[in-house]
Amino acid sequence: MNTADAPPLLQGDDLSRYYRVSRGIFKSGATVRALDGVSFSVRARQTLAVVGESGCGKSTLARLITMIEPPTSGTLHLDGTNIAALTKSQRPPARRAIQMIFQNPFGSLNPRKKIGTIIAEPLVINAQLSKPERDDRVAWMMTKVGLRPDHYDRYPHMFSGGQRQRIAIARALILQPKLVVCDEPVSALDVSIQAQVLNLLLELQDEFGLAYIFISHDLSVVRHIADEVMVMYLGRAVEQGPRNQVFSAHRHPYTRALLASTPHLDPAARRQRIALKGELPSPLNPPSGCAFHTRCPYAIDICRQQRPQLVDKQDRLAVACHRADELAAEFS
Ligand SMILES: Nc1ncnc2c1ncn2[C@@H]1O[C@H](COP(=O)(O)OP(=O)(O)OP(=O)(O)O)[C@@H](O)[C@H]1O
Ligand code: SF4
Ligand SMILES: [Mg+2]
Repeated sequence: MNTADAPPLLQGDDLSRYYRVSRGIFKSGATVRALDGVSFSVRARQTLAVVGESGCGKSTLARLITMIEPPTSGTLHLDGTNIAALTKSQRPPARRAIQMIFQNPFGSLNPRKKIGTIIAEPLVINAQLSKPERDDRVAWMMTKVGLRPDHYDRYPHMFSGGQRQRIAIARALILQPKLVVCDEPVSALDVSIQAQVLNLLLELQDEFGLAYIFISHDLSVVRHIADEVMVMYLGRAVEQGPRNQVFSAHRHPYTRALLASTPHLDPAARRQRIALKGELPSPLNPPSGCAFHTRCPYAIDICRQQRPQLVDKQDRLAVACHRADELAAEFS
């Protein structure tokens, strides 16, 4: 079977997550729509990149997928089972299948524990292995991520940022998950180290048949690793589809602006100077109509009044923009 025809490993449908927050001195309460009706799928061995500016809902999506918190509405099917509807006692198998790597390799590793202990932790909780079997498995995994097994007894502070992220990767993979949610895994690292960690993730994906959901605010980081890309703005997907479509045949001005703001990417977009102007609006009070209209150089009256729906265009590219068809020609 062609991978494009394979059923998705994970499928999110109309996922939302709202938060009630108190507002200033009145504490009257308001709702933040951190995630507002997002749908996506990821297949085994494939990478879905989720891209957008700070506050667009990327980490919220990661918390729903890893079952750290439930969605306000919507479904999330892993291998056909809606994991958003599981009871607490039903969750452990799905929890093992979906692991997470966080942005900050300093904050996510307990400084008082030896790295071997940190990597072994999921095995202690989830697998029936003896101590020597666990040690063997940890040493094997340390080698796989490029760490020396004889560093088992060292503490996280003795490692560089890149090596700490390798420790976090080893811990995430030790239970042999099917899907790993990587939330800005290289953003805190020097550019020279970023490529090493990205290459490692690609090698491990190949070797272990992993699917990734790879979160980044930076399109250039996902260019070489994504199969599919979802571009988000204020809790919603504004453009999504196959990587090449999103990079080369995008129709949404926000995607265009993200590309233009990224050095080394798409000189044509830079020439056109669609810069991201203005402040990101408050998610507590998002703009009417198209939420991007306050910053969009192509906005017209309808954009302020009607919210554009995600509509399938060519070759599985879906776009939420009233002017998507005109802009296809403009951006090509
Ligand atoms: N527990 C919460 N209570 C209230 N608001 C929240 C909560 N968690 C997230 N938010 C809000 O939801 C929106 C989305 O946040 P989220 O952390 O998902 O964004 P993000 O895309 O990961 O941003 P960043 O790139 O900065 O990590 C933000 O406006 C944030 O302030
Ligand atoms: S709908 Fe209008 S405001 Fe929104 S991205 Fe398209 S042109 Fe810009
Ligand atoms: Mg985040």
